[in-house]
Amino acid sequence: MRIVLGIGGGIAAYKAALLLRLFTESGHTVVPVPTEAALRFVGAPTWEALSGQRVSTDVFDRVDEVNHVHQGQAADLVVVAPATADLLARAAHGHADDLLTTTLLATRAPVLFAPAMHTEMWLNPAVQANVAQLRAHGHTVLEPADGRLTGPDSGPGRLPEPEVVRDAALRLAGDGGAPDGPLAGTRVLVSAGGTREPLDPVRFLGNRSSGKQGVAIAAAARDAGAAVTLVAAHLETPVPAGVEVVHAGTAEQLRRACVRAAARADVVVMAAAVADYRPARIADAKLKKAEDGSNPVLELVRNPDILKELVDLRNTARRRQLLVGFAAETGDAETDPLTFGRRKLVRKGCDLLAVNHVGENLVFGQDTTTLTVLSAAGAPEQVLEGSKTDVARGLVARIAQELAGVRAGA
Ligand code: CTP
Repeated sequence: MRIVLGIGGGIAAYKAALLLRLFTESGHTVVPVPTEAALRFVGAPTWEALSGQRVSTDVFDRVDEVNHVHQGQAADLVVVAPATADLLARAAHGHADDLLTTTLLATRAPVLFAPAMHTEMWLNPAVQANVAQLRAHGHTVLEPADGRLTGPDSGPGRLPEPEVVRDAALRLAGDGGAPDGPLAGTRVLVSAGGTREPLDPVRFLGNRSSGKQGVAIAAAARDAGAAVTLVAAHLETPVPAGVEVVHAGTAEQLRRACVRAAARADVVVMAAAVADYRPARIADAKLKKAEDGSNPVLELVRNPDILKELVDLRNTARRRQLLVGFAAETGDAETDPLTFGRRKLVRKGCDLLAVNHVGENLVFGQDTTTLTVLSAAGAPEQVLEGSKTDVARGLVARIAQELAGVRAGA
């Protein structure tokens, strides 16, 4: 595919260099079209070296090739990242004062804008009106990510991570999953994130799960060709494009969503951190401190074990379904995390159990991880290590292998 990568003049232009690499690594030709302002952040040599293409910003360059319309006409996909407030305004109003804006006007390919700017600018009604205008023109405008901005401030306005932009862009161009991938024709249910159990209208019991690992598994399963349903509890990471998302706040909501989606799933991956207990009562009004100074006692009740229930349902229905559980283990003075994992595999009755070694600074919210895959059928332990994306791909490859066995009735 030929992708025009428009680059706006913002500090996040450096992230567009990573995006360019991701596109070329998946075999696409990328034509970078920076604005003049973008070149003040990242220079032309970088774009030319990474893409192998000549770079110009100006409509009067390469006039013999009618470059100002040629790039747009030849593109299969146009991605603008970072899309600054100025660039969104010029694109929304059909300006044609540089090569990028003429390219945007001349293309019939799908166009995706990935905005990046300070929160105040993003929330400004003028910018929001331009975004609405672009969407009304049929373009896709991603929501910016929420987080640390260039200065000490933080909020919505960050350029989404390059992988997120790539996934959304390839989906838009109809090139997301692999039709002949190892999970083609299968349905995969992934639960991710941490449940939140309300105590009163403003408080909840929660946990530190970011949902990154589950979301990475959903994306990897999608890339392997599966139709993916992501049952999302509280996530601190964006949901991937091209998967069906069902939101669930509490363990009970997650249970209902999972039971429903599991009925037609070939694979279930329970990566969600489900609260084992919830407050016995949810107060209708905000709980007040006791006037006599006494400490409150919180009564908790057990939540259903969803994974166990899904295993029972699968067994009763004699469904050919692969069930994968997760275990976050710290180990204790006498027992190492894997021993706890092996016991849990037996207790839950799932086919595979992915054991994460967790602790204060391990795994939760981090981007790298180590996961040991235990198998009920007694296959040797498999250790997957690296970024959460790499580990997710490794797990999905293992799932595809196991599924072939389940389908063969082994
Ligand atoms: N899980 C679930 N329902 C629950 C609790 C956990 O489906 N109520 C799933 C998780 O999604 C995960 C697996 O079970 O796939 C293991 O979760 P974990 O909380 O580590 O296991 P527990 O059974 O709660 O064991 P313990 O707290 O004793 O370690």
